[in-house]
Amino acid sequence: MKERDRLRIAMQKSGRLTEPALDLLQRCGLSFRQSRDKLFCFGEGEPVDLLLVRDDDIPSLIAQGVCDLGIVGRNVLDEFQLTAPEGTTRLAELRPLGFGRCRLSIAVPQEMTYESPQHLQGKRIATSYPGLLGAWLEAKGVQAGVMTLAGSVEIAPRLGTADAICDLVQSGGTLVANQLRETDVLLESEAVLAASATPPADERGDMLELLLKRLDGVIQVRESRLLLLQASRSALEPIIRLLPGGPQPTLLPVAGQPDQLLLQALCAGEVSWRQLEEIKKAGAREMFVLPVEKMLA
Ligand code: PRP
Ligand code: ZN
Repeated sequence: MKERDRLRIAMQKSGRLTEPALDLLQRCGLSFRQSRDKLFCFGEGEPVDLLLVRDDDIPSLIAQGVCDLGIVGRNVLDEFQLTAPEGTTRLAELRPLGFGRCRLSIAVPQEMTYESPQHLQGKRIATSYPGLLGAWLEAKGVQAGVMTLAGSVEIAPRLGTADAICDLVQSGGTLVANQLRETDVLLESEAVLAASATPPADERGDMLELLLKRLDGVIQVRESRLLLLQASRSALEPIIRLLPGGPQPTLLPVAGQPDQLLLQALCAGEVSWRQLEEIKKAGAREMFVLPVEKMLA
């Protein structure tokens, strides 16, 4: 294979992961010459290019060395690892990316009796994930027929070609529309950054390290909120106890009001209305929750 010196990332051409994945890469300082209709996007600035493909093809593109990285659902990555032929390059999940959350679940017709996986004994289960389903059935000691379908899995029970399904669930809308009910979760999935288990040893490896550092910063900041509030010194202790996780808050004096302090706290995640109301009850006033755009400690 021809040597490459630019890092190449594979991602879904059009689908649920496309927009958030592009947004994430952009936040990491990557920009691409726009040719979204094309398969290949040349990276400007940094030596990182994009390959836009079908999500199911991403793991094998990495395993073959055509791409160094991939943004893909954990479900697709794990299924590939379980079903790839012996001798295939091992892949690794480098980072969970926090979007595209869904789960791989068993679902059965509304009216079917189901109390435990044992009820699947001898049944036919339709799925696009034979590897993950097979591993789960084996762990549960259940023998069932696994019918592999490329798509439209959810209609198999109504057509009478399967008794149950194993498919992705996000909102649950597809299940409801097909009179199915979710019974077991096999895998909690989200978009992940996938790569070969052995990173490239040349300059692509250095670029990969740089990209991971930026990514960690972006992910950390994306979840962070800056909480500002004012309170009297006497109320500080109970307020600080109520603050969502994060580093120690910063306290600033308020000019002309020696009893008052301005508190600034970096919170690790979302701050809910309920949390704000509790903190207010403890004596806080003038509260603001701000998103954090960039952070350099
Ligand atoms: C997935 C899955 C379900 C649906 C679940 O299909 O196969 O059909 O999403 O989502 P919901 O719980 O929000 O209804 P997708 O749209 O990814 O298409 P595909 O099956 O053709 O890949
Ligand atoms: Zn798909």
